[in-house]
Amino acid sequence: MSADAYKPGLEGVPATQSSISFVDGKQGILEYRGISIEELAAKSNFLETAYLLIWGVLPTQEELDEFEHEIRFHRRIKYRIRDMMKCFPESGHPMDALQASAAALGLFYSRRDLENPAYIRAAVVRLLAKIPTMVAAFQLMRKGNDPVQPRDDLGYADNCLYMLSEQKPDPLAARIFDVCLTLHAEHTINASTFSAMVTASTLTDPYAIIASAVGTLGGPLHGGANEEVIAMLEEIGSVENVRPFLQQRLQSKAKIMGFGHRVYKVKDPRAIILQGLAEQLFEKFGRDQYYDIAVELENVVAEELGHRGIYPNVDYYSGLVYRKLGIPTDLFTPVFAIARVAGWLAHWKEQIEQNRIFRPTQIYTGQHNVAYTPMAERL
Ligand code: CMC
Repeated sequence: MSADAYKPGLEGVPATQSSISFVDGKQGILEYRGISIEELAAKSNFLETAYLLIWGVLPTQEELDEFEHEIRFHRRIKYRIRDMMKCFPESGHPMDALQASAAALGLFYSRRDLENPAYIRAAVVRLLAKIPTMVAAFQLMRKGNDPVQPRDDLGYADNCLYMLSEQKPDPLAARIFDVCLTLHAEHTINASTFSAMVTASTLTDPYAIIASAVGTLGGPLHGGANEEVIAMLEEIGSVENVRPFLQQRLQSKAKIMGFGHRVYKVKDPRAIILQGLAEQLFEKFGRDQYYDIAVELENVVAEELGHRGIYPNVDYYSGLVYRKLGIPTDLFTPVFAIARVAGWLAHWKEQIEQNRIFRPTQIYTGQHNVAYTPMAERL
């Protein structure tokens, strides 16, 4: 194979055929199973969208009721998983705690019965149901508190916020959180989804697949960017400091977090929706000075980098929304994971339906026929 054929980061290289989601990075279009993200954000909810992604069609009312009921029933986690999580250091990052606890589910449930639709459904239900409970359990336990039990009378998003804060959330806050989950549920072959697909292609169990995807999502170039955005806005500190900050960053060739995307060369459609949600939250619960800094930074980055197609991505405004919802900064990426489990599971199901193990090739750049140097002769 010629070195010309090598694409660093596999840029532009199709890794699969998929009917789950579609992105047009020039026009700023994102569709799940052909339905625009704007329409789903306005009319659907996270669980209905998860069903759509995984099974390919919108559920009937009866199918949705049954799916929601099953998820409600499976939200609790085994006390042995809770006890294991109690031993995690409270200084550990919640993404590491989530990765370890997602993998631990496999100790209890793995059977690898991949030909059986009931096994697939049970794994989908368990993972969608239990991941938020595990995120919330670590959050409360690291503060020295007992985790709260999920509340059966609350919907998915309401219950997530309740378990994180121990308070029944305001209906607008819960609806906005639900839309955030919908927006983050799926996004074609990004790094964590690719990681999930590679792991799935070995026909391993779904808990190992989700654990590997969680590990991949955590990096600052992927899901971890939303945490870094808040740190950056705090460092900027004031609207007046936006321009000097940007100049200094650009001179040192540092990346501006929350900007740029491998596929989108315009503002990410999810960032547009998230900005609208941020404004709704600020209107009801009070304005956040970091929002003004963020808007100014977006304008100044557009002047400096817009011609290169560098605009806000999904992580730019999501942090501001989560912060206003009272979610601690280091839980932003676990919240991203709660949502993205839906997309990872959809790709797991699609992968095993058309499976061929991933085994790419490489262009070898090393030496040949090198003599072994005895220890005493090494410099
Ligand atoms: N700030 C400044 N310059 C940038 C940025 C940015 N945020 N993003 C890209 N560039 C420049 C980059 O320096 C490079 O310039 P040059 O050609 O002169 O070396 C050029 O644009 C191409 O950048 P790249 O890193 O090679 O592009 P990529 O397609 O490999 O990376 C990206 C995409 C998202 C990793 C990158 O834009 C980035 O690091 N952004 C900041 C981190 C971030 O916000 N990540 C969240 C991504 S969206 C959600 C998700 O995937 O989870």
